[in-house]
Amino acid sequence: MQIIKDIQKAEQLCQQWRDKGETIAFVPTMGCLHAGHLSLVEKAQSLANIDHVVVSIFVNPLQFDDKYDLLKYPKTLDDDVSLLNNYAVDLVFAPDAKDFYPESETKVELVELGAITEVLEGAKRPGHFAGVATVVKRFFDLVQPNVAIFGEKDFQQLIVINQLVQQFSLNIEVIGMPTLREANGLALSSRNLRLNESQRDKAGAIYQLLQQIKTDLRGGKRSYIELEQAANKKLADLGFIPDYVAIRDVSTLILPQSPYSEMVVLIAAKLGNVRLIDNLRV
Ligand code: PAF
Repeated sequence: MQIIKDIQKAEQLCQQWRDKGETIAFVPTMGCLHAGHLSLVEKAQSLANIDHVVVSIFVNPLQFDDKYDLLKYPKTLDDDVSLLNNYAVDLVFAPDAKDFYPESETKVELVELGAITEVLEGAKRPGHFAGVATVVKRFFDLVQPNVAIFGEKDFQQLIVINQLVQQFSLNIEVIGMPTLREANGLALSSRNLRLNESQRDKAGAIYQLLQQIKTDLRGGKRSYIELEQAANKKLADLGFIPDYVAIRDVSTLILPQSPYSEMVVLIAAKLGNVRLIDNLRV
């Protein structure tokens, strides 16, 4: 496994592979790897017809609207590399921000993808998805993978990436992988490290609420706003500061237009100063 910070070197290595007709699966991450990330890596290495696995580790400043969150984002490169050593990873690509954005963050030309980036997470975190789309597009251009793998925990992000691939006609297959959870249902996330023990226990309530709403929807309830409001109140009663509880169409993220629409329920809420997101398809 090679660990490369230098952008040109990483780009050249990927180019050499492609010149030989070899294929690449790419797992973009911001490090602080947990079992959820490792399931993406496992998926990458298990794919038939894939010759190389590339994992990027880069805490992308452009996608943090909250500078405190960026400051507190755990950086654990050595531990990440030790974990990845247990997998068939060919390249860990871990550039520095000053090299990745030589033009300085404020002057980067952002990739804007329109309406889908402005609802839910996009509304609560202005500029977040432009930051995500910009960094992912740069990595895609450098690595030029055949396949890229993302977690479904960031459900809206997955839709945004699919749109990025479509909009730029990139020849990349995007694979979404199911969320891994702790025993109480809490979705695995690098931010969980910042929860204390009692917050971690409490945070399982998000998944329980998602399941409750799913049961209600499956049972035929279609009063979306009422269901959302009830869950919001429940979260607040439990001590969360909810950002949203949203029942949405699974592909457009607008309110379901028909009672038979395929739906997803999404929740974002703060516990202490840790912002948690989760979702469940119905
Ligand atoms: O999901 C993440 O960890 C990040 O948003 C990503 C896709 C690596 C882009 O920085």
